[in-house]
Amino acid sequence: MEKNWETELLGKVPERLLAWYDQGARVLPWREDPRPYRVWVSEIMLQQTRVEAVKPYFERFLAELPTVEALAEAPEEQLLKLWEGLGYYNRVRNLQKGARAVKERFGGEIPASREALQSLPGVGDYTAGAIASIAFNLPEPAVDGNVLRVFSRILASREDVLSPKTKRGVEEKVRQIIPSRAGDFNQALMELGAMVCLPNGVPKCLLCPLNRLCRAHLEGSETELPVKAEKKPRKIEDRTVFLLFCKGEVALQKRPAKGLLAGLWELPSVLGHLSMEEAAKTVEKWGLSLERLEELNPAKHVFTHVEWHMAAWRAQVPKEVQEFTWVTAQELEKAYPLPFAFKAYFPELKKGVSE
Ligand code: ADE
Ligand code: SF4
Repeated sequence: MEKNWETELLGKVPERLLAWYDQGARVLPWREDPRPYRVWVSEIMLQQTRVEAVKPYFERFLAELPTVEALAEAPEEQLLKLWEGLGYYNRVRNLQKGARAVKERFGGEIPASREALQSLPGVGDYTAGAIASIAFNLPEPAVDGNVLRVFSRILASREDVLSPKTKRGVEEKVRQIIPSRAGDFNQALMELGAMVCLPNGVPKCLLCPLNRLCRAHLEGSETELPVKAEKKPRKIEDRTVFLLFCKGEVALQKRPAKGLLAGLWELPSVLGHLSMEEAAKTVEKWGLSLERLEELNPAKHVFTHVEWHMAAWRAQVPKEVQEFTWVTAQELEKAYPLPFAFKAYFPELKKGVSE
């Protein structure tokens, strides 16, 4: 699928980028001495935190816990103290779990392969690639948000950078061009994203070593990129919910085994918002006659992908039909927990079954 112009363009990136990196990259402690343990600790610290904030923490952490062994054995209070202020404390807990796993499964040596690294707690796709390339100089991509942005701009790609497919595509392109200085190349891409090819529409193209080949810059679209797809708006589903009461029991039905609220009990409902006449017809269709029908307040429940906008009717019926499962107040409490989506009707339900 890759186009000729793209192959040609990408082929020119490593040399220019590395020349720029050699000449002006920030001097950072894990770059000066990229032993695996140091790179691992730095990458975990950098996951949610800016480089400048990380530096002093990194130095202190390495001074107190200079080896995998020391980290594996550190008491929790010491870990938390060393991490205090960085936030996301699970990162350091996982780091220690990782150190223990390195001791137990890899004889105390941080493993030199993407797969083995990725088997450690807290080490995902990106982090494994970063350690593999920076500490071991393996030709592995390390694609984070910075790198996605740089690629989307140099190729003027309008693919959604939040989609996993785009990320896989960029990883593939990095693999194709990654030079023998793999770790430096990956860090140069990160560095360009952090210092020059800035987010939020303000890249410093005049200072960029790629400005003569960058497609977005050449066509003037750099401030429109990268594209982040809007999240799909939630689907709105109008429903009419029935609270059918008969002799102190309420009618429930089971939801289908698949999909939303799979296999859970629910109040009988139909799609759409029904008028009183339509509601009465529906109840009759279920084989029930009506003693009383009254409208309840509408309610809303928001799921991840759907919103239920519920109208509701309370109906008193003289007999029970097979179609539904009829339960008492006690059963409702003990054995038929209703999903929270119906929360608005819980008080009315309680009232109905205790009548
Ligand atoms: N962010 C994550 N890893 C980094 C690294 N090695 N250098 C600079 N920024 C980074
Ligand atoms: Fe980013 Fe501008 Fe460089 Fe293109 S020329 S990579 S948009 S900084």
